[in-house]
Amino acid sequence: MSDQIQKFTVTIDGKTVQVDPGTTILNAARMIGGNVVPPAMCYYSSLKGSGGKCRTCLVEVSKGSEKDPRPMPKLVASCSTTVMDGMEVKNKSSEKVLDARKGVVEFLLINHPLDCPVCDQAGECHLQDLAFEHGVGQSRYEFERRTFDKVDLGEYIKLHMTRCILCYRCVYTANQLTDNREHGVLKRGDAAEISTFIEKNLHNDFIGNVIDVCPVGALTDKTFRFRSRVWYTKPMDASCSCDKCSGNAVLWMIGDEIARVTARKDQYGEVKEFICNDCRFNKKEKSQWNIEGPRKISRHSVISANHYEREIPKHTVLLNKA
Ligand code: SF4
Ligand code: SF4
Ligand code: FES
Repeated sequence: MSDQIQKFTVTIDGKTVQVDPGTTILNAARMIGGNVVPPAMCYYSSLKGSGGKCRTCLVEVSKGSEKDPRPMPKLVASCSTTVMDGMEVKNKSSEKVLDARKGVVEFLLINHPLDCPVCDQAGECHLQDLAFEHGVGQSRYEFERRTFDKVDLGEYIKLHMTRCILCYRCVYTANQLTDNREHGVLKRGDAAEISTFIEKNLHNDFIGNVIDVCPVGALTDKTFRFRSRVWYTKPMDASCSCDKCSGNAVLWMIGDEIARVTARKDQYGEVKEFICNDCRFNKKEKSQWNIEGPRKISRHSVISANHYEREIPKHTVLLNKA
């Protein structure tokens, strides 16, 4: 008898891939790549328990499996639904999905401030990208928006709760990367908020990573806040020898100065190697780093050239084409 695990075949927007049993639809889509990949605002592959909060990754299962080809009656969250052999899934090819995603974006923006012009996350914000690609131009919400004062979460981090989409990523990061659980989501429903437990400051060695995992501009780096729009900075891959973390980071330069330090992210905006607070907040001299070269920016950022494709109307004459 062969020990080889039988692979499942799944088709997403007409593209087929073979995956191990237990793979989620979202990860199967990521194995195909490109346009078939649903957006994900709360799922984060390296954080256990993440996913299932934001509903941006909804897809339509038009065929359940080879054995039971009935479609699933409702849209499902692709980050927490595993594939079956022979499953067929629709992402962007489903009107129902596109319509539902518009609703999800509208819902996420119900209380969201129009802060983009002053928000540090602008230019690399997943919510901006999501609203651009899947949102509608207006909201039907007529009630007063909930507002919060800004909160200092320790020495390095400031929380703008009004921008938070309650994805729980920072909570899982703090729980899984640091020694003490010091913050979490308090209350429920429209009263829910991220808060430090009994006014405790967040001061663990790896807590700065909550800034990187936050998909929006709710958790901001106090050493960089309001210093520059990200698209005016020049990202460089750099490394240093560090006894706490891998020391592999990205330096965001303004001229010769290091304006901020972040971890390196993949094409889905996920950090693969978390970095320590020392590397992130305290190494702002070029002499402390070995600079490897310019960073290639992932598709998840508007500062990535050609991120948004513009349809050129027919009959447009393109000038300057040598
Ligand atoms: S979090 Fe994103 S969408 Fe919200 S204000 Fe900041 S840049 Fe704009
Ligand atoms: S602060 Fe950011 S990471 Fe934390 S729950 Fe809110 S949106 Fe998610
Ligand atoms: S990414 Fe699936 S529910 Fe948020």
